[in-house]
Amino acid sequence: MLLLVALGMVFGYTVVSIETDDRALTDDRNHKPRLNYSSLSLPEDHIPYFLRSNKKVAELCREDPFCPFKAALQAGKTCWGYEKNCSPGDRFAYPVCSKVDSGWASSVQAAQEVFWKQADFGYVRARLDEMKTLCKPSNPGDSSLTCTSHMRFCRATNLYLDLRNPRRTHERYKEDFFQTGEIGGHCSLNPKALQAEGQHKSPLQSWFAELQTFSELQFHPLDDGMCDIVIDKPTIFMKLDAGVNMYHHFCDFVNLYISQHLNNSFSRDIYIVMWDTSLYGYGDLFSDTWKAFSDYDIIHLKTYDSKRVCFKDSFFHCFLG
Ligand SMILES: *[C@@H]1O[C@H](CO)[C@@H](O)[C@H](O)[C@H]1NC(C)=O
Ligand SMILES: *[C@@H]1O[C@H](CO)[C@@H](O)[C@H](O)[C@H]1NC(C)=O
Repeated sequence: MLLLVALGMVFGYTVVSIETDDRALTDDRNHKPRLNYSSLSLPEDHIPYFLRSNKKVAELCREDPFCPFKAALQAGKTCWGYEKNCSPGDRFAYPVCSKVDSGWASSVQAAQEVFWKQADFGYVRARLDEMKTLCKPSNPGDSSLTCTSHMRFCRATNLYLDLRNPRRTHERYKEDFFQTGEIGGHCSLNPKALQAEGQHKSPLQSWFAELQTFSELQFHPLDDGMCDIVIDKPTIFMKLDAGVNMYHHFCDFVNLYISQHLNNSFSRDIYIVMWDTSLYGYGDLFSDTWKAFSDYDIIHLKTYDSKRVCFKDSFFHCFLG
């Protein structure tokens, strides 16, 4: 189900025509939309769901006379299914099972529930429930690190990466690439909680290897001018599976789609940084698909080599199970 929705989104995103219309422009030339509505990468019929779950954007739209989503605001109580206040009858969809295989469920209801939690939007709810702050900000402008169990998905703000002496080898996912002090932020770290997330350490299942050396820094990376480059644009870090294989590569895209739900954001005005500790390029037979997610080319991590680079707002994409 989730895969179908994701594919529908990837191939159907061109149906969204969310341009500010000409009349609006001539009516008020000075009008500046508070949001770039056309960078939202959702098919039109998914927008009511997004507005229902993202109150901030819904509020902006309500206040903006030129918001192109006015109709979607009126669309009732529809919800994806993982929102806290979403009643089962209003869900986007729910699986229907006609018979039970006693191998994995004891009743039709149980089978539907298992399917929903593992292969449908219920997966998002389960991950959201796991979110834990591993590095806690104390003051505005501090950094933060928040992750789901086993570090399958993490969010980091004001993240500091020291790539002045990168340990690049032939390995794409070198585990000790960043050492203590080379990755981190100004926040109060819970080292025990962080180390406890390491049971599923594996290149394409978890971010533990990359984040296990996340350090509590004594300086403010951004405010103290410790970054040679500051990336303001929201950024998604991804570890990619084989780009020459449709099955494997589309796992990446489904993972990315789930991550958009976890972060509750669908803007294409974002960077995607390919986390790769080698110097190799990435052979990608399906590169057009990225256009559904970002307006920019994929950035290889090595682009920042020899620099200290800071990301104001980032997340590390989610791995499905
Ligand atoms: C809005 O987003 C679209 C598509 O993502 C982009 O082409 C356009 O340049 C953006 N406009 C502004 C004003 O940022
Ligand atoms: C993640 O969500 C935050 C908070 O809504 C948002 O500011 C940020 O742009 C999102 N990140 C990405 C990469 O879309």
